[in-house]
Amino acid sequence: MTAFRFPIYALVLTGIILRGFALETFLAAVYEHAVILSGATPALVPREDALKLMNRNLDILEGAIKTAAEQGARIIVVPEDGIYGWVFTRETIYPYLEDIPESQVNWVPCDEPKRFGLNPVQERLSCMAKNYSIYVVANMGDKKSCNSSDPKCPSDGRYQYNTDVVYDSEGKFVARYHKYNLFASEIYFNYAKEPQFVNFDTPFGKLGVFTCADILNFGEPAVSLVEKFKVDTVLFPTAWTNTLPLLSAVQYYSAWAMGMRVNLLAANIHKPHLDITGSGIFAPEGPKVYHFDMETQNGKLLLAELDVYPRLSPTYPPRVNWSLYATSVKHFSPESQVFTGSIYCDNFTFTELSQEAGNFTVCQNGLCCHLSYKMTEKRKDEIYAFGAFDGLHVVQGEYYLQICTFLKCKSTDLKSCGQPVDTAHTRFDSFSLSGTFNTSYVFPEVLLTETQLAPREFQVLPDGRLISNDSISKPVLSVALFGRWYEKDSLQPLYTSP
Ligand SMILES: *[C@@H]1O[C@H](CO)[C@@H](O)[C@H](O)[C@H]1NC(C)=O
Ligand SMILES: *[C@@H]1O[C@H](CO)[C@@H](O)[C@H](O)[C@H]1NC(C)=O
Ligand SMILES: *[C@@H]1O[C@H](CO)[C@@H](O)[C@H](O)[C@H]1NC(C)=O
Ligand SMILES: *[C@@H]1O[C@H](CO)[C@@H](O)[C@H](O)[C@H]1NC(C)=O
Ligand SMILES: *[C@@H]1O[C@H](CO)[C@@H](O)[C@H](O)[C@H]1NC(C)=O
Ligand SMILES: *[C@@H]1O[C@H](CO)[C@@H](O)[C@H](O)[C@H]1NC(C)=O
Repeated sequence: MTAFRFPIYALVLTGIILRGFALETFLAAVYEHAVILSGATPALVPREDALKLMNRNLDILEGAIKTAAEQGARIIVVPEDGIYGWVFTRETIYPYLEDIPESQVNWVPCDEPKRFGLNPVQERLSCMAKNYSIYVVANMGDKKSCNSSDPKCPSDGRYQYNTDVVYDSEGKFVARYHKYNLFASEIYFNYAKEPQFVNFDTPFGKLGVFTCADILNFGEPAVSLVEKFKVDTVLFPTAWTNTLPLLSAVQYYSAWAMGMRVNLLAANIHKPHLDITGSGIFAPEGPKVYHFDMETQNGKLLLAELDVYPRLSPTYPPRVNWSLYATSVKHFSPESQVFTGSIYCDNFTFTELSQEAGNFTVCQNGLCCHLSYKMTEKRKDEIYAFGAFDGLHVVQGEYYLQICTFLKCKSTDLKSCGQPVDTAHTRFDSFSLSGTFNTSYVFPEVLLTETQLAPREFQVLPDGRLISNDSISKPVLSVALFGRWYEKDSLQPLYTSP
């Protein structure tokens, strides 16, 4: 007896210690900001005018930071381009830039504002972090002068970088990240020469930082931050134009956090007339809180509790083998003809879900997708299509996709399947979606009418099936397994900086 007692006791103790860690949470905040833009067209302004505009945005951000801190938040993320917008050329953004040093300099800009020249934006961000005692994550522009000793030096003698900066709760500058995956329109910034894996320890876990298209385009630095550096929480300033049916901000971010099994703090810009809205605090189990607002012009502060160490949580989802189920079952046969339809310029192979319930298989190239579903009622005024895509996406970025999806078509014409639509009336009692993926990076999306998410209404089984738990509470816009096959990406950036 005694021989057994000690190991069991030790095991129980270890369990308690692990559980003690797992139950540790922290309050996080993100702010969706209705940024005040520099103008309708790019114009060269003096530095004072640039500062005036940046201070107007910083005033609003300060209000959010103060409120978040008063509610007990340990960290707040504010959006990409949140201090000056995006209406620029390479010359006209210059007055908005500051020289941002490397983060190892041990610097509290609030205490030593002149140590690296005049840097009023960095000073103000640091003072906010210090004054309100909260980690602040913001996005701004960095400038680095260069000369002919560097063969890559742009002809105007400087690099300009889209940059995330992080200050700890004492105002100390702790991280700087230069965006790697610039979006096609960001011709006023230079690419970072290589991906930077910016991560650091805090009292609430290990944090990593990247920006906007970094979450979709090339796998780095995002994948290594999660898998190699094992960050617990990703800080993600973004300025994201919603692209239905599969790439609306909250839809994709939530799916990414679930697929990568990591916390994600996503702060987006708020400009509904440009389809830019959608922020949230996402955990590996699903969204904690999210915001999507096409109605008002206002910013929005979101707060939620997250696990400090999600990997130690009893609710941490198991690793998924995304192809296990799909490669082990016999193909269902499509009952109707297949047809081609385009989603964000990718040609999917589709079949129509013409009955109230059914089992289908659709294949394209090496990917076969299986779907079993039951609608609550087959309506005459709406049609749904089920499709597969296995290929290189080449519009606004080049990246390799494997996608299985079923979605509401825009009209009752099959030609409209894949086009953006934001409302639906058809409810589903159940569905099960799977695919023969060649990648382990698959992001599970369930999007309901009016771009609403479906927390706790679905799950991913360890064999790769995305299944509904029960009948879904609202009509369904789209359900997808969004796979990224990073090894097959092309390796060239889209354009060459000057
Ligand atoms: C921070 O606090 C100091 C001292 O209370 C004050 O002078 C300063 O204006 C504050 N800065 C910000 C950014 O709130
Ligand atoms: C060119 O840049 C290098 C590295 O930044 C610097 O050491 C050097 O002094 C510069 N030369 C001139 C002529 O400015
Ligand atoms: C997934 O399961 C398949 C079929 O059993 C197996 O061949 C494959 O190695 C598994 N993949 C991973 C990543 O474990
Ligand atoms: C997609 O389909 C359209 C219409 O059938 C065709 O014109 C286009 O070339 C296709 N694109 C690709 C990349 O295959
Ligand atoms: C779909 O397949 C399942 C399991 O094989 C079967 O029970 C069900 O009856 C099928 N549904 C339809 C509508 O064919
Ligand atoms: C992709 O996966 C399918 C299904 O498991 C398999 O038949 C195929 O050989 C794989 N292709 C590559 C290039 O690995």
